[in-house]
Amino acid sequence: QMAADPALRQRMQAIEEFTRNAIQNGRMLANGTIEIPVVVNVLWKTQVQNVSDAQIATQIEVLNKDFSATNSDYNQTPSIFQSVASGDIPVRFVLYSVVRKKTKKSSWQLNDAMKKSQQGGIDPTNPTTMMNMWVCNLAGGYLGYAQFPGGDPATDGVVIDDNAFGTIGSAQAPFNLGRTATHEVGHWLNLRHIWGDATCGNDFVGDTPLHNTYNFGCPTYPHYSTCSGTPVEMTMNYMDYTDDACMFMFTAGQENRMMAVFAPGGPRNSFAQP
Ligand code: ARG
Ligand code: ZN
Ligand code: CA
Repeated sequence: QMAADPALRQRMQAIEEFTRNAIQNGRMLANGTIEIPVVVNVLWKTQVQNVSDAQIATQIEVLNKDFSATNSDYNQTPSIFQSVASGDIPVRFVLYSVVRKKTKKSSWQLNDAMKKSQQGGIDPTNPTTMMNMWVCNLAGGYLGYAQFPGGDPATDGVVIDDNAFGTIGSAQAPFNLGRTATHEVGHWLNLRHIWGDATCGNDFVGDTPLHNTYNFGCPTYPHYSTCSGTPVEMTMNYMDYTDDACMFMFTAGQENRMMAVFAPGGPRNSFAQP
């Protein structure tokens, strides 16, 4: 997107500055919980790809459990990370509608075609007040991708591969616990990958340890970083690349970053309006 839209880098930099200030000044929203209406856009070729309402419900439930820290595996958080684990993040997801479309395409690239009716996809519904999710077969084994705050509303939302969506039906192990959506919604709310997409990179979150790179599978605890100080990596954070069963927490610092996007003047304040 940055290559296609040079001004995006500037907008995202401004959002970074805003986020830092909002967190420092405590310019968070008041106590209320933010309810995000969710539109699920289903692009299907085979019957199993036409995910059922019940499968969609499992995904919404996982999002609400993970954001409220009521997920059943939350208590597996290692003791050294318990003081920074987020607890209940006051964001909830409510299914608003499901849009379905039969397609002749067997798979979709990461080029946003699924978000454009002119390219065989489905245009988003009310993207400035609702979170759009697209469920489709992504080419190349991708589990999902998201658009950060600051992008074009016409392509805003998250895309989840049909085999990584919800917990039943087309969902396939080891990505059948709905965590791809938790991870992508993290991006949608401005979280970066925990390794900062660089060797020992920066995720702009103070309470996550330095990771030299991503982790796959289910690392044995403790897994040490090769970055300076060799900290224990937080491989169970939703913003790593571990298996669904092996990620179960956000941190308080990540919560602050996510909540900052809803603050007055923030890039997703339109979702926080009553
Ligand atoms: N690769 C994807 C991304 O960077 C998602 C990874 C999700 N991981 C998972 N265990 N479900 O956005
Ligand atoms: Zn990611
Ligand atoms: Ca960090």
